[in-house]
Amino acid sequence: MTDRHMDYKQVDHKRRRLLTIATSGVGLAGVVGLAIPFAGSMSPSEKAKAAGAPVEVDISKLESGQQLIVKWRGKPVWVIRRSRESLEMLADLNDRLLDPSSKNSQQPDYAQNIYRSIKQEVLVLVGICTHLGCSPKYQPEIGIVPFDDDWKGGFLCACHGSKFDLAGRVYSGVPAPSNLVVPPHQYLSDNVLLIGDDEKVSS
Ligand code: FES
Repeated sequence: MTDRHMDYKQVDHKRRRLLTIATSGVGLAGVVGLAIPFAGSMSPSEKAKAAGAPVEVDISKLESGQQLIVKWRGKPVWVIRRSRESLEMLADLNDRLLDPSSKNSQQPDYAQNIYRSIKQEVLVLVGICTHLGCSPKYQPEIGIVPFDDDWKGGFLCACHGSKFDLAGRVYSGVPAPSNLVVPPHQYLSDNVLLIGDDEKVSS
């Protein structure tokens, strides 16, 4: 695996760190927040990437509780390594969720489970709210937070107050109608994810 790791930026965030890592390889799409060049100024390979080439992501440095953001098809995709404690709390939330079994939500078959993932600890989600398309914020805190008295960690969409748990499952009583989308993905090795292509795992 070569030429995969282009940039690395780490930001303190309430004792946890948010990683924003640009990746290259099969389909580098870049760090969220960087402007996408206009199509007319793109090289042919850049156009192919923007059109939806899979994105290879090295998660070897992703520690428990950390979030990594990549861009795929112009959208932010989050990769989060969840702690054992976070995973154990997911089942306790079912009564507060709109679609706890993800029956009416979008994910590949291999991610239609309580964790909504292939590996329990690694969550992969499209970071776009299913209400009107804002990008929710990762809220890893546990306990009393301004928007919830018994928060178990998850995501808050500030646009209209939709809340999602650490599997991207939407809470009841908020505007978002379904869980956050899990994109097609697969593991090329223990620490390398391919986002946007699941041919091997779904065949
Ligand atoms: S766009 Fe997220 S709550 Fe409306």
